[in-house]
Amino acid sequence: MAVMSAVVELESIAGRYASEAIRHEEAGASDRAAASYQKAVDALAKLIQLFPENPINAIYKERCGTYRSKISALAGNQEHPVPEREGREAQPGQATRTATSGGEFDKMIIKEKPAVRWAEVIGHDDAKRALRESIVYPTRRPDLFTLGWPRGILLYGPPGCGKTLLAAASASEIQGDFINVDAASVMSRWLGEAEKNVSKIFGMARSGAANNNPAILLIDEVDSLLGDAQNENGGEVRVKNQFLTEMDGIISKGKNIQLYVMAATNKPWNLDWPFLRRFTKRIYIPLPSLEARESLFSLYISKIRSDHSINLKKLAMATEGYSASDIKDICQATQLQIIDEFFEKADLQKMGPGGGQPRNITVRDFEEVIARRKPSVNGEMLERYDRWTREFGAL
Ligand SMILES: Nc1ncnc2c1ncn2[C@@H]1O[C@H](COP(=O)(O)OP(=O)(O)O)[C@@H](O)[C@H]1O
Ligand SMILES: [Mg+2]
Repeated sequence: MAVMSAVVELESIAGRYASEAIRHEEAGASDRAAASYQKAVDALAKLIQLFPENPINAIYKERCGTYRSKISALAGNQEHPVPEREGREAQPGQATRTATSGGEFDKMIIKEKPAVRWAEVIGHDDAKRALRESIVYPTRRPDLFTLGWPRGILLYGPPGCGKTLLAAASASEIQGDFINVDAASVMSRWLGEAEKNVSKIFGMARSGAANNNPAILLIDEVDSLLGDAQNENGGEVRVKNQFLTEMDGIISKGKNIQLYVMAATNKPWNLDWPFLRRFTKRIYIPLPSLEARESLFSLYISKIRSDHSINLKKLAMATEGYSASDIKDICQATQLQIIDEFFEKADLQKMGPGGGQPRNITVRDFEEVIARRKPSVNGEMLERYDRWTREFGAL
């Protein structure tokens, strides 16, 4: 498998630990569950530390908070009781029995008003236009849309290109609630009680969207909600049907509700027709173009001390096939290398804060890093996206 970018990789590591924690929790193994939650927190903390400017760090921080409160709950720590949990944790270890009720449920879901601006999402002009048309205009003038408007919007494409970012920017643009559900990490918890929780999520989103307040419900990694077609167990079929029923409920409410359901996936081919029929806007979020790569380099390089003569175009040309988050990683890796070099040469005795500076970064430094790392998406995958777009894409 190709090397994945650090952002995507750390995010998926955190997701895997969280699912593992949930499995341990369900099996009553509190200690192991707490250890796995801690690993999930560590991965997310690393992600935040590596990319302090990442606009979706607020989401990661919130997730860390969730996992941390689970760790203290698992340890029977009553020092910081969380209100929704009160009364349910009289005896330590009981949390496993109430896995999907009340407060636990709320903690798997992130609700906030994000502050990501369109301008922070580089490239994707067509996608931005399509999102404005399908989300911003109807919220401003619902009266003009006498035939209704699309409620289900699917963002698909290779990892690390801005799907989550675009969903957050859409919510921020309409100043609405943004409810972010990571289907991949919660699915294992949902088995058994999944349908009920799908209803709860939609219920929460509907109440967020009441009184003309718009809301966006993002189901990230939505393909995991539908399960594997070859290996469907009863639970997954029921979740899927519940999901479709909820979608129909929203669609039939017409202009009386300002709720938009966005779904994101790297694997659109795992979605079936009943699902696609309810997601009539299907927007491809491709790898960054040459121009977008140049802007990405410009963005990240503006934050590091570098040789001002750096030829951004040259770097953009050298990174065909790389994702936005690959480019971010390349810039970061290059900076780290220069910092390492600085520390190796520096006289640590003399070096207080502000003592000396690493040398300027040159195009050559970037080129060396680029030569060592492969893009995280391969040509075969890209062809698959193109084929799927020809068949099912709908802007
Ligand atoms: N188009 C983009 N413009 C600016 N930054 C981006 C873009 N795409 C990805 N990134 C960076 O990579 C990170 C991961 O992107 P994300 O939106 O989670 O990708 P996806 O959801 O498509 O996997 C973002 O937080 C952001 O820092
Ligand atoms: Mg994402």
